Amino acid sequence: MNYELTSHNSFAALLDAAVDSIIVSDSTGIMLVVNPAATKLFGYQKKEIMGKNIKMLMPEKDNLHHDGYMKNYLETGQRKIIGLGRETTGVKKDHSVFPMYLSVGHIKNSDGDNFVGIIHDLTTRQQQQRQLEQHEIEIRKLQEKLAHVARISTLGEMVTGIAHEINQPLTAISTYAQGSIRMLNSKAADTTELLAAQQKITGQAERAAQVIGKIRNFAKKTNIKHQPQNCNALISEVASLAEVHAKELGVTLQLQLSEHPDLLVMVDGIQVQQVALNLINNAIESMTNAQDQKQVIIRTTKLDENTAEISVHDNGEGLAEALEEQMFDAFFTTKSAGLGMGLAICQSIIASHQGIIRFRRNPDKGCTFSFTLPTAVGITL
Ligand SMILES: Nc1ncnc2c1ncn2[C@@H]1O[C@H](COP(=O)(O)OP(=O)(O)O)[C@@H](O)[C@H]1O
Ligand SMILES: [Mg+2]
Repeated sequence: MNYELTSHNSFAALLDAAVDSIIVSDSTGIMLVVNPAATKLFGYQKKEIMGKNIKMLMPEKDNLHHDGYMKNYLETGQRKIIGLGRETTGVKKDHSVFPMYLSVGHIKNSDGDNFVGIIHDLTTRQQQQRQLEQHEIEIRKLQEKLAHVARISTLGEMVTGIAHEINQPLTAISTYAQGSIRMLNSKAADTTELLAAQQKITGQAERAAQVIGKIRNFAKKTNIKHQPQNCNALISEVASLAEVHAKELGVTLQLQLSEHPDLLVMVDGIQVQQVALNLINNAIESMTNAQDQKQVIIRTTKLDENTAEISVHDNGEGLAEALEEQMFDAFFTTKSAGLGMGLAICQSIIASHQGIIRFRRNPDKGCTFSFTLPTAVGITL
């Protein structure tokens, strides 16, 4: 179709039909044409704004510069907004400020210079954007909560081992303390022996405190924060926590750390430890009924400049091929006391780190789970 705006009527019809606001002003900013969409948007009657300065529709900060912009453009042709478009704000009759996209064109005719402004209201778009952002924040909070609940539940599953791990130093402390009392009661108390007993007590108390410290750190409620972390340190620490569960089931853990001691990953440390602990615990549990040596190998590797990989290898019973596809589904479990949330949470945590979690059947026995993480390239601690 070809519209030729030759007659005044078709120009008026176009202005009336336009969804966006159209305002024509002269070079001093006096409004000469205002279409219905504009009066509606700004909340004025046509007669209230016709012949007034366009500055009344702008917030004070723009309004102060407006004359300068126009003058400057007309004198120098320098464009700040004229001939271009930009997001800015407008002011309605009720003084409320709203976001808008403004494009301004220069009309040169026999009467002099006029300007046409086309205004697109961005209120709805901005609201939608805010809602979307709010939604994303809520999802992140939910993921944080879910991950936290899962960590507590993992610790719950490990509680017997943990109790054992703490009970050992407590028993030792009690034994050394009783020995010290006996020595003190007998007349011939030997200070060297007493000192040795006190040192043993201190050492054991520190050991118990370390176990509690690790558990407290792991059980903490934290906001997700991605920062450079030493990959080997993260995994060694979590392996020592898993040791508790391993010992209980007669499994040995073997750590094979990357030869890059400064391998840094850009991650939320606790969440990554949570993934590793889940995989290690699953590996340990897969060997409950195994006859031969029960061993889990935990490996950290630098795949390339941008990627690190952590893998957990077991020689357990594996899983029936038909069930492999469901492994990462929420609530899928083959254990009588399993919750089936472990791998589902691992997957969501790794996805939020732009990583990939994979499962592979070992050629001989058992399986290997691995996940990738982004390295903190160029960032040094
Ligand atoms: N290392 C593994 N070896 C064999 N099967 C595994 C291994 N890891 C996970 N699975 C299977 O995947 C299922 C889901 O694991 P997970 O989501 O951690 O839940 P849960 O440990 O509570 O069962 C397990 O019940 C098990 O059948
Ligand atoms: Mg599990």
